[in-house]
This record gives sequence, structure tokens and C-alpha cells, in this order.
Amino acid sequence: MAVRGNSIIKGIEVSEVITLLNKAYADEWLAYYQYFIEAKVIKGIMKDAAIAELDQHATDELRHANLIAERILQLGGTPLLNPKEWFTHTNCGYEEPKNFDVVAILEDSIKGEQCAITTYANIADIVKDKDIVTYDIVSQILADEVEHEEDLQALHDDISDFISSIKQNIS
Ligand SMILES: [Fe+2]
Ligand SMILES: [Fe+2]
Repeated sequence: MAVRGNSIIKGIEVSEVITLLNKAYADEWLAYYQYFIEAKVIKGIMKDAAIAELDQHATDELRHANLIAERILQLGGTPLLNPKEWFTHTNCGYEEPKNFDVVAILEDSIKGEQCAITTYANIADIVKDKDIVTYDIVSQILADEVEHEEDLQALHDDISDFISSIKQNIS
């Protein structure tokens, strides 16, 4: 544990920061797996473009999990040790893919990113001016989640437009 590093945290209990981070840590692992499996099962038009995006997001979510685990350890906490705890700690839950169509998969993923944005904005609000290092890490992750939402929405709109233009041409 970083003794001097932790001494600069003011106005919030270190244990509270660890609890918030462990919940986000659970979200990141579930998001990672959601993207991982979506990229495998996805079907339909322009699916290759979607697979490239989903794989990239999976990589990013795992990188986020890593950043959060490192910060929890620095604070003297322990990252969740059992995957069962991901479900009891998660903020955003897990959206099991039921419809494998590319548009449905992208819609599920957009919902997940919107929840992630809300979660990180909330953590940033709580730790702002209290724990600068966590604030910085959470802000970096938040910027990635905003970009993820935007990338998925743009792809979703392109594919939806493409599908409706095909339908118009054949009718
Ligand atoms: Fe993430
Ligand atoms: Fe994300």
C-alpha cells in the first residue's frame, strides 16, 4: 500500500474508494466478456465491421479492468478474487446476447456503454477534489466509454441506413 500516496486522499474513506472501484472492476470484466462473446456469435450484414469494433472494445475493457485492479492494490485493497462476485458487485449487469443479429448486438452494446458512462461520471463526481489519482484514472476510462458509445452508434446508424437503402432498392 502506498502510505504517502494514500495520505493525500482527503474527505473520503479509502475503503469507500476501493468499494466503488471494485464495482467498476466487476463491470469491466462483464463488459469484456460481453464484447468477446458478441464478436463470436454475431450474424448478418456488415458483421465484419462490427466484429472489428467489438474486438477493439473487448481489448479496451480488459485494459480498464487492469487499470482499476492496479489502483485498488495501490490503495491497499484487493480486487474481487472470484468471478461470482462480478454479479453481486456490478453496476451495469450483463446483457446476455439473445438475438445475434448485428443491429440487435450493437443496440445491446450501446446500452452497456451508456451505463458505463453514467457509472464513471458518478465515481468521478464522488472522488473529485478528494482522490486525485483515482479521479484521473476514472476520467481516462470515462473518455474511452464516451468514444465507445459514439463508435457503436455510428456503426449502428451506417448499418441501419444501408439496410433501409437495400430495402428501398428491391421494393
Ligand atoms: Fe470499460
Ligand atoms: Fe466501453
